[in-house]
Amino acid sequence: MPEPQPYDNSVNHAPKRKDILTNEEKKLALKNALRYFDKKHHAALAPEFLNELNEYGRIYMYRFRPKYKMFARPISDYPCKSQQAAAIMVMIQNNLNPAVAQHPHELITYGGNGAVFQNWAQYLLTMKYLATMTDEQTLVMYSGHPMGLFPSHKDAPRVVVTNGMVIPNYSKPDDWERFNALGVSQYGQMTAGSYMYIGPQGIVHGTTITVLNAGRKIDKTGEGLAGKLFVTSGLGGMSGAQPKAAVIAGVIGVIAEINPKAVQTRYSQGWVDEVHTDLDELLLRIKKAKENKEAVSLAYQGNIVDLWEKLANENVHVDLGSDQTSLHNPWSGGYYPAGLSFEESKKMMAEQPHIFKEKVHESLRRQVIAINTLAEKGMYFFDYGNAFLLEAGRAGADIMKPNGDFIYPSYVQDIMGPMCFDYGFGPFRWVCTSGNPEDLDKTDHIAMQVLEKIAETAPEEIQQQMKDNIRWISEAKKNNLVVGSQARILYADALGRTNIAEAFNKAVHKGEISAPIVIGRDHHDVSGTDSPYRETSNIYDGSRFTADMAVQNVIGDSFRGATWVSVHNGGGVGWGEVINGGFGMVLDGSEDCDRRLKSMLFWDVNNGISRRSWARNPGAMFAIQRAMQKEPKLQVTFPNLADDDLINSLI
Ligand SMILES: NC(=O)c1ccc[n+]([C@@H]2O[C@H](COP(=O)([O-])OP(=O)(O)OC[C@H]3O[C@@H](n4cnc5c(N)ncnc54)[C@H](O)[C@@H]3O)[C@@H](O)[C@H]2O)c1
Repeated sequence: MPEPQPYDNSVNHAPKRKDILTNEEKKLALKNALRYFDKKHHAALAPEFLNELNEYGRIYMYRFRPKYKMFARPISDYPCKSQQAAAIMVMIQNNLNPAVAQHPHELITYGGNGAVFQNWAQYLLTMKYLATMTDEQTLVMYSGHPMGLFPSHKDAPRVVVTNGMVIPNYSKPDDWERFNALGVSQYGQMTAGSYMYIGPQGIVHGTTITVLNAGRKIDKTGEGLAGKLFVTSGLGGMSGAQPKAAVIAGVIGVIAEINPKAVQTRYSQGWVDEVHTDLDELLLRIKKAKENKEAVSLAYQGNIVDLWEKLANENVHVDLGSDQTSLHNPWSGGYYPAGLSFEESKKMMAEQPHIFKEKVHESLRRQVIAINTLAEKGMYFFDYGNAFLLEAGRAGADIMKPNGDFIYPSYVQDIMGPMCFDYGFGPFRWVCTSGNPEDLDKTDHIAMQVLEKIAETAPEEIQQQMKDNIRWISEAKKNNLVVGSQARILYADALGRTNIAEAFNKAVHKGEISAPIVIGRDHHDVSGTDSPYRETSNIYDGSRFTADMAVQNVIGDSFRGATWVSVHNGGGVGWGEVINGGFGMVLDGSEDCDRRLKSMLFWDVNNGISRRSWARNPGAMFAIQRAMQKEPKLQVTFPNLADDDLINSLI
């Protein structure tokens, strides 16, 4: 048994979680935690675990955190009997790398609560299973807990992950607090619990596309984005991509962040150009940037509410506005209310949760008043999928239309849905398991060539997307986006993803790329996620509260050749608000792999397009007909459009 380790204050720790368990439940949590250890250690571990539960609200088993450095090593460094399992170890260690993960010692990758595992025993046991399993076995993961290895076959997934899957009636935020404290469930976010996080780069591309397309919406005269002001909040896991994306899109990005550590992380990475703590100085700097039409990112180290109120009071014209505090998790560290310091908030959320909740509500109401003032003067504001509108509405802020809709669109409703998802464009990504930057250069080059070839004959409807994506990949290296493993994100449609993966597999086969490539995607995609206020917010046939698409997707991926699959409750917008799934696939250069990738990627994208088409979304109706023309074995039920006059004459 390793020695206990001192609590390391140099890293960013998860906030103390709610003390939610009764004494009887605490006994259960202890018994649950001790299940991982030989009885002879229980007397030593039980008081230690109880202390963690009382002190931090969870049992992380800090003593068992490995002493070795946590990062994605080259695949050849991992002991294994299955190359696929070794690739998964690469991905897990990347998700826990302190340079990548938000709260690495609590095994949280991003979003405040996006867990890879619940405790260090689960990590150690999982790595052991992966190191010893063969291609005739499948590892079964229940919310971070490795249930074990089960006999399967070489075409089956090596790992099947479920995170936070609970009976729907038990899916309120406090249920998560309770189940997680008991050690029986976890919040996997999207790419945390599915081992597919690739650092903030993953989101930079999506954020750039969003800012660019939001800019196109307000650019009525074609003057472009130079000198336009984009104001938002958050420099955390995903939100930290905003300053970088703002500069790539060519605007002035001003981002408020309350946590000084988060500000410093992004500043030291060069993702934020300047840090300001004084609002008057910041406003002068914004004025200068507007005059010079600079593409620059300015962090405001402070509360977003103070920034909005200052901008509204001083009549500053803001072109684009959003918010990326973690409002999917408002009561335990996702949102810091105005009027309290960072430290005061942390204390209050643990010790006086009811008063803290009131403070959050009051702060959201103030935030909306300032945003509304600026929106009346022409700012285009959009919800960034962080449950801002949902929570502001719950707080009683003036954010609803009389018919119950929000006055602002979600970025998926206005931008990502109709412009990207309906056509099948989504956050495809890959990781070079060699860890060699030269391999990444080669993949960038291959992907660009593939997209350029597709663009030659692509229809008008998707030309803009193709151009944006080709520009992205051609500039990706220059933008210095890698944090952690040698990875790349590239929005692509079904044809793009398939052709790129096929070309990578060939390059691995020929030895042009030195080790297997892992392909995957964010769950935030065409088919992977049912989330009524985000990914499926532009579904208008009444089915956006159903989750058939996400569940079908994971099942379909698993029998078409994915190396691992995952399905999660929660992710982005909150526990109980979304079902989402994803996959990982190891391209090892084999013929088998060529067969698998074609079958799986085709389904992984066209499943969602068919559902979007059935919901009568015009882009998806176009895209699925195109897919059917290319693949005669695809036969999708196509909607007939009823005449509104007929319906209205009846009701
Ligand atoms: N980037 C995207 O494409 C995308 C897409 C969908 C959803 N989201 C959502 O955006 C949210 C942010 O994600 P994340 O990974 O960055 O989370 P995160 O928790 O790592 O970062 C949020 C940051 O906001 C800061 N913050 C909280 N309240 C604040 C306040 N009042 N003023 C200033 N700063 C404040 C926190 O200190 C934290 O650093 C999540 O809810 C996520 O689901 C992002």
